[in-house]
Amino acid sequence: MTNTSETPMILPENPSFEDVVRCRRSVRGFLPKAVPQDLLHKIFSLAQLAPSNCNIQPWKVAVASGESCRLLRDKLVAAVTEGVKPNPDHQRVDKFEGVFRQRQVDTAVALYGNMNIARDDGEGRRRASLRNFEFFDAPHAAFIAMPSIFNESVAVDVGMYAQNLMLAMTANGLGSCAQASVSRYPDIIRAHFGWNDSLAVLMGISFGFEDPSIPANKTVVPRADIREEVIFLD
Ligand SMILES: Cc1cc2nc3c(=O)[nH]c(=O)nc-3n(C[C@H](O)[C@H](O)[C@H](O)COP(=O)(O)O)c2cc1C
Repeated sequence: MTNTSETPMILPENPSFEDVVRCRRSVRGFLPKAVPQDLLHKIFSLAQLAPSNCNIQPWKVAVASGESCRLLRDKLVAAVTEGVKPNPDHQRVDKFEGVFRQRQVDTAVALYGNMNIARDDGEGRRRASLRNFEFFDAPHAAFIAMPSIFNESVAVDVGMYAQNLMLAMTANGLGSCAQASVSRYPDIIRAHFGWNDSLAVLMGISFGFEDPSIPANKTVVPRADIREEVIFLD
């Protein structure tokens, strides 16, 4: 199997690890169908097996489903549409340059192309951006935080947890989209889940069963050749 085609790969029956890694991609449109409780338990138990420095397991995770998910979505959408100033817990790099900018542009071209949103279509882009806060209609949204006393050295552990979680979802027939965007309003997220300021919100992950009819879900974004990023020395 390769991942170079323009068409998303379908997970085969009894997928290998390689199939799962190749089939995971960001899903931005979901069916209104809840994930059964036992499957939720299974995928979050698998994610929990992620490695972490000194095995501190620094991630704190909250999952909004059903009415809780709808309420949180409404609060976030209201914050965006009312122009509430974002106050993320961590300074994010929003402006990329050089090769990083090029990759960002290539990804946007692939995604917005499938969504039929032109480069100068400001309203279309605003609407597409708002979809983040609607969780792309996902029936579940997970939020991942870590104790705010920690810095990026511990955030590395949380990244491993997040990837474990998304691969566990893929392997079990679920789609997911990692979302830094939703962490722009950590106070709303903390208040919703009853978290206090001792937790810093890193990201959200919308997830559920993919809606294959959504144009955005036809997107496959390319990767650089490993020769650009990896050196092998003998
Ligand atoms: C930490 C992180 C944050 C992300 N934030 C967003 C986001 O806010 N909105 C979004 O649509 N995609 C987001 N993505 C998805 C990336 O755009 C996506 O992973 C990348 O383009 C590669 O595509 P793929 O996941 O389909 O392989 C995020 C991914 C990561 C890992």
